[in-house]
Amino acid sequence: MGDARAILVTGGAGYIGSFVVRACVRSGMPAVVLDDASTGHLEAVRRAGSDVAAVRGHVGDQALVRALVTEHRITACVHLAGSSRVGESTGNPLKYFQNNVAEGVGLLEALLGAGVRQFVFSSSAAVYGPPAQVPIVEDAALRPISPYGDTKMVLERVLERLHEAHGLRYAALRYFNAAGADPESGLGEDHDPETHLIPLAVDAAMGQRPPLTVFGDDYPTPDGTCIRDYVDVRDVATAHVAALAALEGGPSLGAINLGTGRGHSVMEVLRAVTAGVGRPVPHSVGPRRAGDPPVLVASGERARTVLGWAPRYALADSVAAAAAWRRAWPRGYPAHTGAAES
Ligand code: UFG
Repeated sequence: MGDARAILVTGGAGYIGSFVVRACVRSGMPAVVLDDASTGHLEAVRRAGSDVAAVRGHVGDQALVRALVTEHRITACVHLAGSSRVGESTGNPLKYFQNNVAEGVGLLEALLGAGVRQFVFSSSAAVYGPPAQVPIVEDAALRPISPYGDTKMVLERVLERLHEAHGLRYAALRYFNAAGADPESGLGEDHDPETHLIPLAVDAAMGQRPPLTVFGDDYPTPDGTCIRDYVDVRDVATAHVAALAALEGGPSLGAINLGTGRGHSVMEVLRAVTAGVGRPVPHSVGPRRAGDPPVLVASGERARTVLGWAPRYALADSVAAAAAWRRAWPRGYPAHTGAAES
């Protein structure tokens, strides 16, 4: 607390959220985490910063949000809480509209009511759907092909309307494929179930999981496997700090891609993991996964000009960090991490 402005980080116990908390704290911005701990790890908040308050609750709980704003003198919010499995969203759209749209609208209502007008939103490349052109620029058409992508697009729209009506200043950071870890502080990627390529490949190479299935090798790409823009989670985190700094006293920023501008195929990732772990990744080729566009690569131009942000880490760095974290924490975060404040 004290006089410094504090940042409310929703979803701060999650993979990207915990790195954002760490980056805020390191930049001298006290962070307060609001997280329902349904998928995140309160242990990750502890590792992100020893004196970070972690409050267990829902972001749509307006009385709670208003109380936090007053108690901690919150001046800005980074909103990462939400459901984030594209596949799950197609089978259970209501869960996604509830958690990502309805709860998000509740959060915004509480924040605006309490006078908080700076907002950084965790959006996604999923808002674009299959792109007509790569690298993808922010004003490309938004044609999400999953309910997950719909929810991110809708909340972005809400933010734009709140900017027009109430002067909300926001950045909608459209993440591409966040990857990596920070073995030093003990932060890493630990989803249950894990569905992401790099942690699955690292575990397969270490013999901790069954061989990996490559989802299709008949895409219109040079080696037939999907191409993604893997951006290091440490870089993703610093982009949030840059966005908060730019919003403080500056104009609203709108949508900004967070990617590297470089794509890597699934087979290239497997080679990087082989090099990073020092063992081959056992794998076989299976059918395509529904909803996977062949190529998703960001244009990083807007992030560079608007935020002055450019990624520092390359794929090999992210993979090396992911492998080191897994060696240090083979079972991920401990299952029971103690109660948060309430
Ligand atoms: N892949 C495999 N085998 C696996 C897992 C993944 O071949 O076992 C492939 C996927 O088909 C894809 C690539 O590896 O081509 C990356 O897949 P991830 O599941 O790691 O990541 P996605 O690109 O599907 O998803 C990411 C974020 C989502 C976000 C989406 C935007 O994790 O939150 O980008 O399109 F919505």
